[in-house]
Amino acid sequence: MKDGKYLVGFIGFGGIARGPHYTGWKKLQDVEVIGIADPSEEVRNIAKNEFGIKYVFENYDDLLKIEEIDIIDICAPNTIHFPATIASLKAGKNVLCEKPLAVKKNEVEEMIKEAKKSGKKLMAAQHMRFMRESVAIKKLIDDGELGEIYFAIAYALRRRHLPTSLTFIDKNLSGGGPMFDIGVHILDLTYWFMGCPKVHSVKGITLTKLAKRKDIRGLWGEWDREKYNVEDFASGFVRFSDNRALTLTCSFLANMEGISDFSTTLFGTEGGIKWPNGKLAKEKNGILQNIELKLDVLPNPAPHHEEIRVFLECVKENKEVPVKPEQSLEVIKILEAIYISSETGKEVIF
Ligand SMILES: NC(=O)c1ccc[n+]([C@@H]2O[C@H](COP(=O)([O-])OP(=O)(O)OC[C@H]3O[C@@H](n4cnc5c(N)ncnc54)[C@H](O)[C@@H]3O)[C@@H](O)[C@H]2O)c1
Repeated sequence: MKDGKYLVGFIGFGGIARGPHYTGWKKLQDVEVIGIADPSEEVRNIAKNEFGIKYVFENYDDLLKIEEIDIIDICAPNTIHFPATIASLKAGKNVLCEKPLAVKKNEVEEMIKEAKKSGKKLMAAQHMRFMRESVAIKKLIDDGELGEIYFAIAYALRRRHLPTSLTFIDKNLSGGGPMFDIGVHILDLTYWFMGCPKVHSVKGITLTKLAKRKDIRGLWGEWDREKYNVEDFASGFVRFSDNRALTLTCSFLANMEGISDFSTTLFGTEGGIKWPNGKLAKEKNGILQNIELKLDVLPNPAPHHEEIRVFLECVKENKEVPVKPEQSLEVIKILEAIYISSETGKEVIF
């Protein structure tokens, strides 16, 4: 802290950092973004010359030496999340880390241990929990409108939207394909809607069917087919300890009617609902009802900004973060287990 302001440093200052994360912090009056670390010289020049960032480093260890920094916002590729979080917590910083929190269950376990040891906050930036549709539907669920949600079908399907940057398609950086890029969003959301139960077992499959083919065109341009080494399709069946379940299906390149299907359908004993459209199915006095919730007229704060605002509030008031790392642990456990199950052909039982 300096002059009454919370100081923020970024590890990784690419697309998501320079977009909604930077503007999210800038909106807050008692915050200053003071430094960044990024191995790319081009990015460091942008930080210095276009954003006027005071401290710009190639290596995040140098950024972490700045004692007054209170919060590190990690926006580096997925596989960097683990080492960067551990180093930041060891340096006494609070950490907001982009999704996925890490790419291995063991890594998340270590991150949780380190956060506890340091007494600092750690939260995965699952911004979809902060969307107005998500907040409204969660309230409805918590009010008992759906009864017990016993099953969910989660989709993160894109027809031809394959991210072209190696950040998302080279396993050394991304840890995986659509599961870690977009699947993690819909899984975290569905898992939260279901009340965050413990995972019992996971069965799944991951496939690379279209991404290596030269005749397939992406709507975001060309990608390096040689370096593409992750799945382009994945599907998993997850059973929870309390005998409920969900399925997760994700793809960057699905042959499907529309351009994308980013949704989750929740089946409850008293009602069912689809996110994000808010179509609620119920039965009352023997009469079936379809109710359309008017979610599009609710106030609509930018979800990334909300997540940043709420995280700062937790740091200031020493409150528990809303996306608890223990919840992210179950989410990462599921994703990792889908890869393991796909490789072994067996169910992973925890
Ligand atoms: N929540 C969302 O909506 C959302 C959207 C996009 C990306 N993301 C996440 O944000 C992260 C970054 O994605 P992006 O789209 O900004 O990617 P990007 O490739 O645009 O930016 C990543 C940046 O990290 C830098 N970097 C690489 N190694 C580093 C290291 N060791 N230390 C510090 N910086 C390093 C790169 O040079 C690059 O500038 C990923 O984890 C991704 O999953 C989240």
